[in-house]
Amino acid sequence: MINAKNLTKRFGKVDALKGLNLHVKKGSIQGLIGPNGAGKSTTIKILSTLVIANSGDVTINDIPLKRGVSVRSMIGVVPETPRLHENKSARSELRFHAKLYGMSQKEAKSRISDLLYAVQLEDAADRPIRGYSTGMKKRVALALALLHEPEILLLDEPMSGLDPVIRKQFKEIILDLKEMGKTILVSDHDLYTVEELCDSVTIIQDGKTVVEDTIESLRHETGSIAIELRVSDDSTMDGLESKLTSLDCVTDVSQKRGWVIVKVRDSKTDIPVVIHTASNHTDILEAKQTKITLEDIFLKFAGGHHG
Ligand SMILES: Nc1ncnc2c1ncn2[C@@H]1O[C@H](COP(=O)(O)OP(=O)(O)OP(=O)(O)O)[C@@H](O)[C@H]1O
Ligand SMILES: [Mg+2]
Repeated sequence: MINAKNLTKRFGKVDALKGLNLHVKKGSIQGLIGPNGAGKSTTIKILSTLVIANSGDVTINDIPLKRGVSVRSMIGVVPETPRLHENKSARSELRFHAKLYGMSQKEAKSRISDLLYAVQLEDAADRPIRGYSTGMKKRVALALALLHEPEILLLDEPMSGLDPVIRKQFKEIILDLKEMGKTILVSDHDLYTVEELCDSVTIIQDGKTVVEDTIESLRHETGSIAIELRVSDDSTMDGLESKLTSLDCVTDVSQKRGWVIVKVRDSKTDIPVVIHTASNHTDILEAKQTKITLEDIFLKFAGGHHG
């Protein structure tokens, strides 16, 4: 369980965090999302004790994060930019860290070969890291984060720079970790991935928490259902848009690439009204119902400004 209350962090003249709140339930995967510069990496660095906050409180499994108190053994971190010993190979880097964690040689050996297999680095495992690609370095970083089997994982864009195959593999690894009961905080700009992985999200912007909830309730709050309509005569689209906008049950209407997108709250009562009204107005060629995506949610809560 992770609890952060009112975190502030200043770097010189920059207020990176201005009262950030975050709660991650035990055994859940939570997404930490927000625009560039919002403070995601700063938050993760504070939680992983790499950076000290100026004020605020953090507890990890009810243990307050204080200078000198080590919660590091409970935590595994994939940093935004992994710092690795470039002249070591992945295997010797892992061995080096296993030693720091006090693992026996025998224990380390089998754990390391399992991890190298899991992140698909077996072939390159004995070559120097300096020759690795960006994605390969991320894979070493994930293996390092998992080495000591921590209860809590803090993953800062763990999948950026990964090809689609290894990305899928990473997703599986993360979901497996969730099934094992780990508590996971993951930051990523790919909202589709976050939506697939996470139960809840914390959306932050400008150093503050904008909203924190389950994706399901945020979906509801954003306007739970979207109906997309394609008409046979494009010239009727504007008229259809204003007709639907005037309906009480409709929360939003927009147009996108030849489709009119209508948002309603209740699928049972509202969809028939929309379809009925629309087909009275014009010929409907195609209708489909889509879920509100995490992108819709993000744009609603953090779409306003940038940076
Ligand atoms: N070491 C530092 N020195 C000065 N400013 C910093 C430092 N680290 C972060 N900042 C500033 O703090 C703010 C938050 O940065 P942070 O890296 O936490 O954002 P982020 O949400 O992770 O962004 P991104 O999506 O680009 O990774 C930014 O304005 C950034 O410039
Ligand atoms: Mg970042």
